[in-house]
Amino acid sequence: MKPKIFVARAVFPEVLERLAQHFDVESNQEDRIFTADELMEKVRGKDGLFSTPSEPVTAALFAANPQLKAVCNMAVGYNNIDVAAATQAGVQATNTPDVLNETTADFGWALLMATARRVTESEHWLRAGHWKKWSYDSFTGPDVHGSTLGIIGMGRIGQAIARRSMGFDMNVIYHNRSQLSPELEARANKARYVGKEELLSTADHVILVLPYSKESHHTIKAADIALMKPQATLINLARGGIVDDAALITALRDKKIAAAGLDVFENEPAFNPGFLGLSNVVLTPHIASASTPTRLAMANCAADNLIAALSGKTPPNLLNRDVQPKR
Ligand code: GLV
Ligand code: GLV
Repeated sequence: MKPKIFVARAVFPEVLERLAQHFDVESNQEDRIFTADELMEKVRGKDGLFSTPSEPVTAALFAANPQLKAVCNMAVGYNNIDVAAATQAGVQATNTPDVLNETTADFGWALLMATARRVTESEHWLRAGHWKKWSYDSFTGPDVHGSTLGIIGMGRIGQAIARRSMGFDMNVIYHNRSQLSPELEARANKARYVGKEELLSTADHVILVLPYSKESHHTIKAADIALMKPQATLINLARGGIVDDAALITALRDKKIAAAGLDVFENEPAFNPGFLGLSNVVLTPHIASASTPTRLAMANCAADNLIAALSGKTPPNLLNRDVQPKR
């Protein structure tokens, strides 16, 4: 008998077909959003769960589904999964690192360029019919080339962003839990390790690419924004909750910094409506990894992990290496 899995959200049909060769698949191609109770019910009797960042995978879900052996998230971030509870419950948990590094770094640049050079703001103005004449100072903003880029969270995505800055003759500083090796720093456009305060007060553009955890909650709050230059921009590619959104809205309204570019929000897909009244913020709906080839690679990576986990192999991207897997 094939193991049973539940695929929590709609996914590429070819990935579902691949999963169906290995598993008895129940899927959610209609892409409904389940309540916690509905999800628990859907996982009933399943050996594996193919999840996304929109499903909270909790201790209660593990307790209600003692047969569950693996939860494979289609994302590099896994703050939706209680990994400690998974380990306790003997459930293998996996993510999809690496396959999205370059695509996510590309989007970090898209947001940085759009924010600094006021791309969406000026487009909205043009579409609204306001363009009657050229003016020397319309939509002027900071430069990107030749400026200092500050990266908080210098993992593989942060390093890929830094590499792209070479063509813009930028000076790169970074802050991270640990300092990179001299070789990796050299490849990351000679990035220089600095303390968080120095980074915030020196950088012209600050980009956040660190994982969310209790420790990184509100890494950027009012006091941190206060350290930034008035012409600086802030880009959040990481997770909602890394930035105190209410504090950022106040700072943008009071022009404490020039602008922000945000792909992630506290409580998304709901978000603080205060952002909508501001012209100096670029808002995108959590799409940094959303190139077609990369989303397919992420789905296949999650499938690879599920196939390995449910055939008694160690999944390539096991998060809880200390788990005692159920067989
Ligand atoms: C997307 O945010 C991811 O974590 O992959
Ligand atoms: C701007 O379009 C210029 O020609 O300087």
